[in-house]
Amino acid sequence: MAFLGLGTMGLPMATRVAQFARSGTRVKFELSVWNRTSKRAALLAKMGVPTAPTPRECAQGAEFVFTMVSDVEALRALATGPDGLLEGLGRRATWIDMSTIGRSAALEMARLAEAQGAKFIDAPVSGSVGPAERGELAFLVGGAARDVQRLEPLFMAMAKRVIHAGDVGQGQALKVVLNGVGAHQVIAFTSMLVLGLKSGLTRATLVDAFTSGPFGSPAIVGKKAKVLAKDYSPEISLEMSRKDAQLNLDLQQEVGVDLPAQREIHKEMSAAVAQGLGADDVFAMERYYGKQGALEKKGKVAKT
Ligand SMILES: NC(=O)c1ccc[n+]([C@@H]2O[C@H](COP(=O)([O-])OP(=O)(O)OC[C@H]3O[C@@H](n4cnc5c(N)ncnc54)[C@H](OP(=O)(O)O)[C@@H]3O)[C@@H](O)[C@H]2O)c1
Repeated sequence: MAFLGLGTMGLPMATRVAQFARSGTRVKFELSVWNRTSKRAALLAKMGVPTAPTPRECAQGAEFVFTMVSDVEALRALATGPDGLLEGLGRRATWIDMSTIGRSAALEMARLAEAQGAKFIDAPVSGSVGPAERGELAFLVGGAARDVQRLEPLFMAMAKRVIHAGDVGQGQALKVVLNGVGAHQVIAFTSMLVLGLKSGLTRATLVDAFTSGPFGSPAIVGKKAKVLAKDYSPEISLEMSRKDAQLNLDLQQEVGVDLPAQREIHKEMSAAVAQGLGADDVFAMERYYGKQGALEKKGKVAKT
């Protein structure tokens, strides 16, 4: 088995797979990993997991090839070219991509895999770094039912839930729609936090009320300690969330729907990225709204 992409999410997920391989499971496999920046593989190397020098060599001989990278550009970069994953992908192999890339990109990758005689499954995940470390992610999967069933033990090494959404591409459709809900929650939380603070309420009061009442979704409750500490080190970066908001707009266009609130979310996240907040956690939208509020007070932004 091959696992390519050891970023914030990929590293804890691959670590769980490595632990599963050693757990005496009946599902027998050898694991090999690859990451563009090789030092990310050091922890796995300590566990005895070999690092392949190229995506091609990582995929070679593997029945299942998992990828988890930032976006479709990253996926194309590791998949194509003489040292790319596709060059090593065997005719009977299955390529499972877990990155959030949107439906049309998943269909593009499926065509590339099929041209090699291999199968493609889209399996983006719901849940952030904590659930990834604890094996509590949810997989949103697109592919033939029989193929998805075969993969279930491997998915369950990383997750507590597998949702089979339909044919190839539908895992991504579900992920993009679900992220749209998440984006509304982040925007609601961070903008109302700023309004509350500017109204004289304390951070502790606001965070307590937001996380203990009927609007305290797990995504919001999970951020409680970080928001109280104003810790915006990234669990999911604002730039990554802006990319997800763009995928939502792409899907809307694909299916002929226009949802202005999502367009506004994308616009505001893009403005925050332009202000240099892209590498911070998405909850750094609080900083963006904080600055907007200050500008309005000075009369520099027209009130609508
Ligand atoms: N973070 C979350 O909470 C979360 C939750 C659910 C889903 N997701 C999705 O999961 C995916 C990964 O997110 P993440 O937070 O783990 O991102 P991340 O920490 O930024 O890691 C990105 C990974 O992609 C690799 N990469 C980037 N550009 C590349 C290129 N041109 N060629 C090869 N590899 C490249 C990086 O390699 P280097 O190490 O060399 O930079 C790294 O392994 C994204 O699609 C994201 O939307 C994230």
